Amino acid sequence: MKEALEDLRRKADGEIDSAKTGGEFLDIKTRYLGRKGLLTDLLRGLKDAAPEDKPLLGKLSNDIKKSLLEKIERALEDIESGDRDKALREARIDVTLPGRGLRYGKVHPVTRVEGEICDIFATLGFSVVEGPEVELTYYNFEALNIPEDHPARDIHDTFYVTDNIVLRTHTSPVQIRTMEQQPPPVRILSPGKVYRPDSDISHTPMFHQVEGLLVDKGITFGDLKGVLTFFLRQMFGSGTQLRFRPSFFPFTEPSAEVDIQCVMCKGSGCRVCGQSGWIEILGSGMVDPEVFKTVHYDTEEISGFAFGLGVERIAMLKYGISDIRLFFENDRRFLEQF
Ligand code: PHE
Repeated sequence: MKEALEDLRRKADGEIDSAKTGGEFLDIKTRYLGRKGLLTDLLRGLKDAAPEDKPLLGKLSNDIKKSLLEKIERALEDIESGDRDKALREARIDVTLPGRGLRYGKVHPVTRVEGEICDIFATLGFSVVEGPEVELTYYNFEALNIPEDHPARDIHDTFYVTDNIVLRTHTSPVQIRTMEQQPPPVRILSPGKVYRPDSDISHTPMFHQVEGLLVDKGITFGDLKGVLTFFLRQMFGSGTQLRFRPSFFPFTEPSAEVDIQCVMCKGSGCRVCGQSGWIEILGSGMVDPEVFKTVHYDTEEISGFAFGLGVERIAMLKYGISDIRLFFENDRRFLEQF
C-alpha cells in the first residue's frame, strides 16, 4: 500500500508539473482528491492494512493529500494573479491622449436678443413684467379696443382655445393687465411668446414680441420718437436711419410703424427689403383714450405711448438670417454659431 501511495504521489506531481490552465489543475484536483478520486479510493483499503502499519500509512496519505492540495492551490492563485496583471496592463489609461472637452450649452439667439432689448430699455428705467400666453379674449381684444367684427378677430388669425380663451396673438394684453393693477406712472416692458396660425419663410405659429408701455403726465409723440430712436440706434448702431410711417392700430391713436434702413443693402434695395431699402421693425402709437377708459385712467391727467416689436425679426436683421424657421428647428450647426 505504501508503494501504491508513493506511486500515486509521483503520478500526480508529474501531472501538476505539466498542467497549464486553471481547468487542468481543477481536473487533477477532482481526479485525485475528489470524493470518488484516486487517493480517496486508495484510502478505502486502509481498513484492511495491518494494525501496526495503520498510523504510518494514515500519516503518509494525509501528507500526500496536503502537498497535492497546496501545489494545486498555489498554481491556481498564480494563474489568477497572472490574469489580473494582464487585465490591468490592457486596461491601462493613456494619460497622454488629448481630452474630449466639455460641450457648453449656448443661449438661444432669440433669448439672447430678447435679453439685449430688455437691457437697453432697462437703462431708460423700464422694468420687465410678464403675462399669460393663454389669454382671455377680453384682454387680447376687447380691452384693447378691438371690436368683435375686427379682421384680427377672424378665426384664421387666432388660435382659439374656447370661445373666450385664445393663445395671445400679441403681448399688448399685458398693457391692460398692468394698468389694471397699478395707477400711473407706468414704465414697463413685457417680453414673451405670441401665437398666430401663419407659417412661411418669415412667419412661425409661435414667435416672440416685446411690448413697451409708458404712461405719465405730459407724455407726447416726441417722447415716443425719442425713446424708440434711442433704442434702435443702440440695437443697430448709431448711424441707423429710421422712418416713422403713419399706421393704424385699434389701441393707439395716432399710430406709427417704424422702419429702419435695410441692414443688408444699406438702403439701395435688395430681396430682404423687397427692393424698398426699408424694413418694418415695430408698431407703436399713443395709447388710445378708449384703452385708458377701460382701465379707469384719467385721460385728462395722463397720456402715454406703447410699442410692440418682433424679437425674431430683429435677430434676423442683426445676424443676417433669411429664414425665421431656422430658429426653431434646433439644428445644432445653426445654434452653435451664436
Ligand atoms: N400689438 C401690435 C402687434 O402685434 C403691436 C403694437 C403694440 C402696436 C403696441 C402699437 C402699440 O402688431
